[in-house]
Amino acid sequence: MKIYKPKKESDYIFLFSLFNIKNYKYIEEVSESPDAIKEKTKLPGRSDYIITLDDKKIGWFSFRQKGNTARFGIILHRNYQGKGYGKEAMRLLEREAKKLGIKKLKLEVFEVNVRAINLYIKTGFKETNKMIIMEKKI
Ligand SMILES: CC(C)(COP(=O)(O)OP(=O)(O)OC[C@H]1O[C@@H](n2cnc3c(N)ncnc32)[C@H](O)[C@@H]1OP(=O)(O)O)[C@@H](O)C(=O)NCCC(=O)NCCS
Repeated sequence: MKIYKPKKESDYIFLFSLFNIKNYKYIEEVSESPDAIKEKTKLPGRSDYIITLDDKKIGWFSFRQKGNTARFGIILHRNYQGKGYGKEAMRLLEREAKKLGIKKLKLEVFEVNVRAINLYIKTGFKETNKMIIMEKKI
């Protein structure tokens, strides 16, 4: 498994296909286009990476860094979920975080996303706060 920073048009097209309900059923905000994703990756503090396996793009992770703390997101293509690649990707994620001077990683995860929660527990994360998300149609 390797990682690289998205650069080419085809990278953003891949990310556009990845940020989809088929790969992540709890996705809240679907981007409009590969270009919209490209713009988001340029936001201050943001660092994005494409995960590859045998030169095939299989996933993505990203940091939103403020000082030495960063929130992160990770998504593997559905064909590569549940096969242990998440743990390998988390090792690369931590290695990259250290290179960026990140000392604390944070994340938010839905309670029903048991696989993701198990991955985080197995890679040393601990629950800190519970948050309730509410909404109202107006
Ligand atoms: C979350 C995600 C990155 C995890 O990666 P993964 O490669 O699928 O996870 P792994 O196969 O490494 O499994 C991690 C652990 O979860 C557990 N697990 C795997 N499949 C599971 C399932 N269907 N239900 C519950 N637990 C499961 C296992 O205990 C495993 O650890 P173990 O193999 O040491 O026992 C990946 O599934 C994914 O991209 N999901 C969609 C996007 C997403 O939810 N992202 C996280 C948002 S917070």
